[in-house]
Amino acid sequence: MGVTSGADLRAMETCGRIVRKALDEMMGFIAPGVTTLQIERVGREVIDAEGASPSFLGYNGYPAAVCVSLNDEVVHGIPSPARTVRSGDLVSIDIGAYKDGFHGDAADTVAVGLVTPEARMLLETVYEARGRGIKAARAGSRIGDIGAAIQEYVESQGFSVVRALVGHGIGRKLHEPPQVPNFGRSGKGMKLGEGLAMAIEPMICLGGFGVRTLADRWTVVTEDGALSAHAEHTIVVSGSSPMILTA
Ligand code: MF3
Ligand code: CO
Repeated sequence: MGVTSGADLRAMETCGRIVRKALDEMMGFIAPGVTTLQIERVGREVIDAEGASPSFLGYNGYPAAVCVSLNDEVVHGIPSPARTVRSGDLVSIDIGAYKDGFHGDAADTVAVGLVTPEARMLLETVYEARGRGIKAARAGSRIGDIGAAIQEYVESQGFSVVRALVGHGIGRKLHEPPQVPNFGRSGKGMKLGEGLAMAIEPMICLGGFGVRTLADRWTVVTEDGALSAHAEHTIVVSGSSPMILTA
C-alpha cells in the first residue's frame, strides 16, 4: 500500500501524464472503420515514445498493451484486427504505463458517431460517478465512502454498478491493496491516509450488473447483453482534494 510523496510521487505523475497522452491520442483516432488493434497501436506508440512500458502486456498473461471494450463488453477486451468500430458504438479504452518503477492506469469511454440517448446518459453518468468517487477519497475518509458515493449516484440515474470487478491501490505494482469497490456503505472499510495512490474505476451498466467472461478468458461482458461504460483515474489522497494524476 504505497504512501506516495517526493520522488515516488513525481515518478507517478510522469506515468499519469503518459497514460493521459496515450488516451487522448487513442480517443482522437477512434472513428467508424478503425479496428480495435489499430487503436491499441496508437496507445502503444505513445508509451514507447515516452520510454515507458505497457503495464498490461503480459500481466497475468494479458496479450496486449491496451484493453478495448465495445458496447456490452465491460472491460478487458483484447484488441483485434477483426474488430471494427462502427457509428453507434461505445468504446472503452483502458491503458497502463510503467516507468521508473511505478505504474499509472486510466480508462475512458467514448461514443462513436450517433449513439442512443440512453448510451449518452450512461457515459455522462460514468464520468460523474468517477468524479464523485474521487471527491470522496479524502484523507480520513474510508474506502466505503468512495463506493457509496459512486453507487448512490449511478443507481439514482437508473443504472447499475458492476460488483465483480473493483478499483485498486497502485504504485510499484499495477494492483496493490486496498481493493476499491464501486459500491458499499459510507463509514465502512479502511481509513484513507494521505499519499495513498489508487485507481478509481466505476464500471456501470444500462441493465443488470451481472457479468461473465468470454471463452477468450479475458473479455468481460454483461450477462444481459446491455451496454456498459468504464472510466478510471489514478489519484493520490491528500488532505484536501485528491490529486488526479491522469487528468
Ligand atoms: N485497468 C485494468 C485494471 O485496473 C486493466 C488491467 S488488467 C490487464 O485492472 F490484465 F489487462 F492488465
Ligand atoms: Co485499474
